[in-house]
Amino acid sequence: MSLQDSAVYPAPPEYKTFKKKMQDLTGIDLDAYKYQIHRRIHMLMQRWGVKTYDEYYKTVANNPDKLREFLDYLTINVTEFFRNANRWWELKDKIIPQIYKDIGHQRIKLWSAACSTGEEPYSLAILALETKVASPQPVLAIDIDNGVLAKAQAGVYAKRQIASAPKEWVTKYFTEVDENTVKVKQEVKDKVKFKHMDLIKDKFETGFDIILCRNVVIYFGPETKAALYKKFMESLRPGGYLMTGATEQIFDYKNMGFESAGPFLYKRPQ
Ligand SMILES: C[S@@+](CC[C@H](N)C(=O)[O-])C[C@H]1O[C@@H](n2cnc3c(N)ncnc32)[C@H](O)[C@@H]1O
Repeated sequence: MSLQDSAVYPAPPEYKTFKKKMQDLTGIDLDAYKYQIHRRIHMLMQRWGVKTYDEYYKTVANNPDKLREFLDYLTINVTEFFRNANRWWELKDKIIPQIYKDIGHQRIKLWSAACSTGEEPYSLAILALETKVASPQPVLAIDIDNGVLAKAQAGVYAKRQIASAPKEWVTKYFTEVDENTVKVKQEVKDKVKFKHMDLIKDKFETGFDIILCRNVVIYFGPETKAALYKKFMESLRPGGYLMTGATEQIFDYKNMGFESAGPFLYKRPQ
């Protein structure tokens, strides 16, 4: 528990036991997250009328719907296709052509690190198709939450999720299910490989050309964040890019060995 945490909610010893039991149940290490997580846990306790950590643990452990609610509330899965659209057009018009110049079309390796319900990796796959990536490697899409990964694999979305996609791409890459719902076409699905992974604990593959890690580190403490960026640096090929979320500037990127390549875009030097 960080100082920030204890300043906001003095934690009783039961919180430690609770964290350990929750880690055994969900695989999530609550200590790696910032104080907001402790606050969010308390907010759910209040919402459910639960008084003790033990009762809270039992509620979650014995009821799959409550476990789902806990994970949704804790990890915040909000996402959309081409979120912060300008960043995507920069990838399409500048970064991917640059990578082609550097290494050609054949072996481009893309990763959506914390993909939530799949909108981000499918957006990357659509960019790959539009820019005629010839690599047989699918986009790697990982998340810690199996529930969102199952939704991602189904590839069915409310139409509002694709509001930022150009109109011609909607007809090209989606089929209409009903007036409010669309499904990602198989051609796009074939370009994405989903996998369960914990960014904090698990080992990363190497040789990536672009890693997207957006809107996930906001909940991590500073040490967890720095260690994660270091792991990303090592998993990029020299000349590869890391894109962060639209509020997630890396202030000490130089100390970490990155070059700035634009807003919220960092490059591993060649
Ligand atoms: C707000 S979503 C971001 C989705 C997408 N990257 C975007 O920007 O739209 C945050 C995701 O991070 C995932 N997450 C949280 N902690 C994680 C961890 N330690 N390892 C992998 N994924 C994690 C959550 O499950 C959630 O799906």
